[in-house]
Amino acid sequence: YGDASQKIDYVFKVVLIGDSAVGKSQILARFARNEFSLDSKATIGVEFQTRTLVIDHKSVKAQIWDTAGQERYRAVTSAYYRGAVGAMLVYDITKRQTFDHIPRWLEELRSHADKNIVIILIGNKSDLEDQRAVPTEDVNEFAQKEGLFFLETSALQATNVESAFMTLLTEIF
Ligand code: GTP
Ligand code: MG
Repeated sequence: YGDASQKIDYVFKVVLIGDSAVGKSQILARFARNEFSLDSKATIGVEFQTRTLVIDHKSVKAQIWDTAGQERYRAVTSAYYRGAVGAMLVYDITKRQTFDHIPRWLEELRSHADKNIVIILIGNKSDLEDQRAVPTEDVNEFAQKEGLFFLETSALQATNVESAFMTLLTEIF
């Protein structure tokens, strides 16, 4: 999980967005520290964590920003998106509404972020298959139409979290 002494070739800023409670902060905790908490509290303002990885023999420092899904706790939007080269747009596979809001998040991204930002759509909580409310096939079609990468993850079980970040960072790279 990173070595402070190594030289950094690139720093990539990535932002996490999506409705409250979809698991953004836990996806980040899993990626940055290999941790997970079931009683995660709602994020207030902005937090960020970094992890340095090697891609194509270069060391890449991923600086991942996380903000509140809840409107009243959100930070200033333009500052949040400034300089971001990647975005993870997260919904919860057990909560249809969180997927129905994705077009709004995309609109916000497209109006505030750089037009070349790389976006990956993430259906989190894939461990809760028995409570699934959003079929994978529907999202595949949507993602294809919108030109987004798409993966389902479980921060709890650590499924696809690494792949999601690697897909994004490799594409940015
Ligand atoms: P805001 O900060 O309010 O925007 O929410 P958030 O998107 O950061 O959600 P957070 O990471 O705090 O997670 C919300 C709840 O979902 C917590 O109880 C987490 O433990 C739980 N959770 C997150 N990821 C998963 C997952 O992959 N599976 C399951 N079963 N629960 C998860
Ligand atoms: Mg959070």
